[in-house]
Amino acid sequence: MQTIIVTGGAGFIGSHVVRLLVNKYPQYKIINVDCLTYAGNLANLKDIEDKPNYRFVKANICDFPTIYRLMQEEKVTGVIHLAAESHVDRSIKDPFTFAQTNVMGTLSMLQAAKLYWESLPEQYEGKRFYHISTDEVYGALELTHPEGIESPFTTKASSAHHHAYGERFFTEDLKYMPHSPYSASKASSDHFVRAFHDTYGMPTIVTNCSNNYGPYQFPEKLIPLFIHNIRHRKPLPVYGKGENVRDWLYVEDHARAIDLIFHEGKVAETYNIGGFNEWKNIDIIHLLIETVDRLLGRTPGEDNSLITYVTDRAGHDLRYAIDSRKLQRDLGWEPSLQFEEGIERTIRWYLDHQAWMDNITSGEYEKYYEEMYGKR
Ligand code: NAD
Ligand code: DAU
Repeated sequence: MQTIIVTGGAGFIGSHVVRLLVNKYPQYKIINVDCLTYAGNLANLKDIEDKPNYRFVKANICDFPTIYRLMQEEKVTGVIHLAAESHVDRSIKDPFTFAQTNVMGTLSMLQAAKLYWESLPEQYEGKRFYHISTDEVYGALELTHPEGIESPFTTKASSAHHHAYGERFFTEDLKYMPHSPYSASKASSDHFVRAFHDTYGMPTIVTNCSNNYGPYQFPEKLIPLFIHNIRHRKPLPVYGKGENVRDWLYVEDHARAIDLIFHEGKVAETYNIGGFNEWKNIDIIHLLIETVDRLLGRTPGEDNSLITYVTDRAGHDLRYAIDSRKLQRDLGWEPSLQFEEGIERTIRWYLDHQAWMDNITSGEYEKYYEEMYGKR
């Protein structure tokens, strides 16, 4: 029996984690703590909101007294911490919010767990604080092979296209070199988590994952934004030359890794999560256009004219590529879905869930939350 707080459970990845845990472990109690920022959307959890082992608590992770009281009241045994400001472009405009949520919010979660667990006779025994982080903390890799070379590593995710765009990959022992205010705030939060292990003996784990894609992602991020824009024939704003490389993983594969690591990962360890699935932005964009066009009965590629090159993102990291061999070797995790299949599944999901998208893009869901919970 476990009582687990999942923070950020109304967001993109958090909602997949909550759904997986609620369905897989009816004997657990899963408490979703989320303050519902613009990115939090309870519609992401409609299918599980009435399950008896699920509770939603609208709270800000920075509100230490509320979090501490909740831990006592619910006798929390584990924390899976995803709540964060997650969009790099927003961090460039508003770094303070990122420091507040990602750094101070993580510290508040750590301190609340520490004080509560240390007050128990068994203290940290059977407890776990699992912090979800990003590959962006490692900085950027060189793009030494712009045309791509055969990758030395293949997984199910990358099996149809196993290109690498450089020789180096992010491994767990790399020095942190964050460039954006977002990645700097995530790096700082990772350091706090490890400090709580080293200083107080808290049983912590950190994982750093590559770019996720799949259903329920907020349409400010590349893949859902571009699917939406292609459908409505709006311009596709490609930053710079579209040559930046990202390493993509289907969100449910990330959620499966989180479940496995929460239960079987070794305390104080760091695990990288990714599928060795590197893509240049412009190649993904062409794949999105072709697939959306085909699914909508248009001539595949006819919407290429929507591509609009715009000013590059400031400090735009050139290449991310995660080495996840430690996780594969130590815990036997592997991605389950080939990228091309995952992209088609994702596009179909967004096309079939137009109402979900319209609620966000029309501001309708803001009204819904106001009625349900009052003004944010
Ligand atoms: P998201 O922006 O979709 O969701 C974030 C959630 O956190 C939202 O529901 C929001 O309401 C909530 N939240 C924000 N501030 C809060 C606060 N102060 N108190 C309580 N709740 C708050 O983010 P995501 O893309 O699902 O990312 C989740 C986590 O995974 C983040 O920590 C992110 O850094 C990490 N991550 C994301 C990716 C990715 O590709 N999306 C990859 C690796 C790691
Ligand atoms: O690597 C993991 C990270 O992936 C997570 O930690 C972040 O939370 C998540 O947002 C994501 O960061 P990115 O900046 O890589 O994702 P985004 O979808 O914003 O952009 C992907 C790439 O596409 C990036 O190179 C920028 C480019 N881009 C993005 C947008 C929104 C464009 O060219 N045009 C756009 O309009």
